[in-house]
Amino acid sequence: MASKLWGSRFTGSLSKLSEKFTHSISYDSKLALYDCVASLAHAQMLGEQGIIPKKDASAITAGLKTLIKMVEDGKYVYDPDAEDVHTDIQVKLRKLVGQPADKLHTARSRNDQVVTDVRLYCLDHLENIIALIDGLQIALVNFADKNQDVIIPAYTHLQSAQVVLLSHQILAYVEMLERDKGRFEDAKRRTNINTLGACALAGTSLPTNRDFVTEKLGFAMTAANSIDSVSDRDFIIEIMAASAITGMHLTRVCEDLILWVTSEFNFIALDDAFCTGSSIMPHKKNPDVLELVRGTTSKFPGRLVELFVLMKGLPMTYNRDMQMDKPALFDCVETMEDILEIMAQVFSGGIKIKRDVLKARITSEYFFSVDILDYLVKKGVSYRDAHDTVGAMVKECLDHGRKISDMNVAQLKRYSMHFEDDMRNLLRPEVSVQIKKSMGSTNPDMVKAQINKWKKRLK
Ligand code: ARG
Repeated sequence: MASKLWGSRFTGSLSKLSEKFTHSISYDSKLALYDCVASLAHAQMLGEQGIIPKKDASAITAGLKTLIKMVEDGKYVYDPDAEDVHTDIQVKLRKLVGQPADKLHTARSRNDQVVTDVRLYCLDHLENIIALIDGLQIALVNFADKNQDVIIPAYTHLQSAQVVLLSHQILAYVEMLERDKGRFEDAKRRTNINTLGACALAGTSLPTNRDFVTEKLGFAMTAANSIDSVSDRDFIIEIMAASAITGMHLTRVCEDLILWVTSEFNFIALDDAFCTGSSIMPHKKNPDVLELVRGTTSKFPGRLVELFVLMKGLPMTYNRDMQMDKPALFDCVETMEDILEIMAQVFSGGIKIKRDVLKARITSEYFFSVDILDYLVKKGVSYRDAHDTVGAMVKECLDHGRKISDMNVAQLKRYSMHFEDDMRNLLRPEVSVQIKKSMGSTNPDMVKAQINKWKKRLK
């Protein structure tokens, strides 16, 4: 059995099952690097403040540096019998540097240690997630840029509605991701706080210098309240909430692609790198990667609820329940990183647009009904009346299998005296997007300006 950081108060020992049940080393070993880095700053502070002899502080820092190198080189192997990562690092340090290691735990507790380690872990991963969102946005903007002229049907209620530029829809995803990134950036601000030095919960009577540690670890500020420091996990909940929203957005992107790749839609082809086959139906090529991104994201709201239930109603301050924040957090953050990366790959080279199919899909004149309506409004007809006119025209065409473009001006005038020959110019997808004028619309010049804006901003 590995030695514990407690024990002298006990005569008996933990049962085998309790030990297995309470140990967290199998998952919190991920924090080893952060545990060493935080301990290093703490040891230096203890030496600087004269709380421990300078030579002991030096011995501890040398040992911790060795351990950091081991973690970085992938040579750190945790002892499965250690209670948690803090114990494991402490025991390993003792083996490396001997007695001075026993002074490291002065003026701290595992309560402030664990939350500080987790904050450092989160800051690293937040930076990574933010960069990965940038990467996906860049892939999307480049994809929009390359396919600027492609027109697609757009849907409401999954019924054909109007035509838009594909690039316009792709930029909608970029906007969503920008807000997602903002949420992670917000979470980062509230994560970037040094909680080390709060000790068990009350602070310490020893003359520590908390700002020294804050600065060494690169935190933006020192936590103001020791009770809050060891109790708070809302920075984790915030990261998971941001993940849940981002994940939800990504499922919608995936769903569009999954629909578009069906033989019924057939708008795009997906590269083999993102598909798998069927063991029984030889013709099948399934978009499994997209389906699994869609499926995997279900864990974000699930894990978020887990954290809410975990924290709800816990009395101040630290409770061992809080150990269970880690499997949820790690799972969430690492999955987020994986799916952002794979989605960027999908958009940078994984999608082939079937231009001919798309061209054939946007010939229906119903796509232009709103444009015809606007034509009448521009001639002074009220929107209500214009709606009735175009509605009647569409109904009759549908009932008799007729096309608006086949009607001559006299026939058109049976619906409205305001119709002239030029109305029939509206019955083309290129015109439909071109005549849009409102800010944020699918007008090609406006979309192009947006693409250029994003290119500049994401550089
Ligand atoms: N493994 C523990 C956790 O993750 C570390 C803190 C233990 N603190 C304690 N007082 N037992 O929360």
